[in-house]
Amino acid sequence: MAPIALQILALQILAAQTLALRILALQTQDFALADQQHVRASLDKKPEEVQAMFDGVAKYYDRTNTITSMGQDKLWRIATRKSLNLRKGERVLDLAAGTGVSTAELSKSGAYAVGADFSLGMLRAGINVAKVKESGVPLVAADGLRLPFNDGAFDAVTISFGLRNIVDPDAALREMARVVRPGGRLAVCEFSTPTFAPFRFVYLNYLMRALPAVARSVSSNPDAYVYLADSIRAWPNQDAMAQRIAATGWADVQWRNLTGGIAAIHRATKPR
Ligand SMILES: C[S@@+](CC[C@H](N)C(=O)[O-])C[C@H]1O[C@@H](n2cnc3c(N)ncnc32)[C@H](O)[C@@H]1O
Repeated sequence: MAPIALQILALQILAAQTLALRILALQTQDFALADQQHVRASLDKKPEEVQAMFDGVAKYYDRTNTITSMGQDKLWRIATRKSLNLRKGERVLDLAAGTGVSTAELSKSGAYAVGADFSLGMLRAGINVAKVKESGVPLVAADGLRLPFNDGAFDAVTISFGLRNIVDPDAALREMARVVRPGGRLAVCEFSTPTFAPFRFVYLNYLMRALPAVARSVSSNPDAYVYLADSIRAWPNQDAMAQRIAATGWADVQWRNLTGGIAAIHRATKPR
């Protein structure tokens, strides 16, 4: 798709998100704020709060993601799987796997995919997700800062929309490098910075102004929107993220933008 078409698509998504958030918040007493709430917790940087918050939103987490991203989440998961070039028989760890939907997507490659998350609520919710059940992927309770896996246990490791929630993202990147074999691959899928300046302006103003305004009218937790905007502003842009990954034991860092840079996938390899 041409870049300008991507920008238009992204704008349409944002407009639709506003409507979707309003409907969801009314229907579900704010379960729709799953992502926004986790941002708040991430800024507080208290693991117990992050855990408890995800336990609380787990039941509706995947549906919320799909509605508020207008289906883009599915495309982002496919792009993440493809970015890892997984081969049949390889082992891949999906850290901060949540309900395991991202892990199930990875298993489509034929690789043996393992999901790990420290929210038991999210893991339990995954038991009832059809595509997770059908995939048969194992989901294990584990802290990304102290993974219960041997050095070099995996051929690849990935994390989708999880790094921003981890108390110490650099330590998590180092821990991911530990459990991957030399020459193994990393893919980090995370919100990022739109690349097209006019769109970036609209996007940031949407986040900074529209989201809190919508939240005030429909949400019992409007602060969550403010925290989401803050966290995206605070989160490194594509280039800074690449440098951060390179500083934590990874080499050959590259990235590609998704939906005009609303999200990005960073790839890297562990030096041999
Ligand atoms: C936004 S969800 C992402 C879920 C899934 N990867 C996806 O793409 O939908 C973020 C997840 O990070 C998990 N998380 C945060 N800190 C963690 C840590 N230290 N160890 C393991 N999981 C963590 C949360 O429990 C939550 O399930």
